[in-house]
Amino acid sequence: MPLALITGGATGLGAAIAREAHDRGYEVAVLDLAEARDVPWRSLVGDVTDEASLIAALDALGAVPDLLVNNAGVVQFAPLLDMTTEEFARITAINLTGAFSMARLVARGMVERGSGHIVNVTSIAGIATSPGVNAYVSSKRGLAALTELMAQEWGPSGVRANAVAPGMIDGGMSTGIYQNEAARARRSGAVPSRRLGTEDDIAQAVMWLDSEGASYINGHELVVDGGVTKAVMSLIPRD
Ligand SMILES: NC(=O)c1ccc[n+]([C@@H]2O[C@H](COP(=O)([O-])OP(=O)(O)OC[C@H]3O[C@@H](n4cnc5c(N)ncnc54)[C@H](O)[C@@H]3O)[C@@H](O)[C@H]2O)c1
Repeated sequence: MPLALITGGATGLGAAIAREAHDRGYEVAVLDLAEARDVPWRSLVGDVTDEASLIAALDALGAVPDLLVNNAGVVQFAPLLDMTTEEFARITAINLTGAFSMARLVARGMVERGSGHIVNVTSIAGIATSPGVNAYVSSKRGLAALTELMAQEWGPSGVRANAVAPGMIDGGMSTGIYQNEAARARRSGAVPSRRLGTEDDIAQAVMWLDSEGASYINGHELVVDGGVTKAVMSLIPRD
């Protein structure tokens, strides 16, 4: 039974990925700041910005995961001029450095074993930038670049690394945005697929990337957004 470890797996997209992995017969563990309750998988407490807590959690897990999903992430909206260096560093520490720390700790064992897969959860915000999204944008674009590097450095040892970039998802950290019916309609109307995405859309994409049929995909950022990122020119008035 393959072992999947999902960071930030107590809520939102991470919990959906854990559920999907569990349904597909994986042994599942999630790592989050607080314990996940009433779930049929292991819950590890750790902070991706605190390497000692990650080492302790991996020791408690007692095995090298076959699949690591670096999903823990936070967003903070503010214009660059209003953002302090400390706030910028905090977002980067969780979204980018945290994923690096976790991947580095787990990949050592994967490389030794000669197999494994790391999926980094990025965002369309790192591909199509917009004002006010500040450190989130740079951390997610950085994570996409880091994914390519992981694939190149660890690929020869049988370890794959890919990214999934969600967009327009009605769930997780975006739940609040879609409480407003008018915002829902405006946003889903801008998506070529004419709907918002679900947490399950992302979970399916992550788990498909880990399937045998996707075994030659390495260093790729899979955009799961109903087509909106590529449709940016359709949103610009012609006259
Ligand atoms: N929901 C969306 O619309 C959307 C879109 C694009 C990308 N994403 C990405 O998906 C991932 C999951 O986000 P979500 O929407 O489920 O948000 P969420 O806020 O529901 O879940 C994030 C999880 O990460 C955990 N976390 C935060 N800081 C942590 C830390 N230092 N150490 C360990 N865990 C930590 C939180 O406790 C939480 O359980 C994030 O990387 C996010 O950037 C989400």
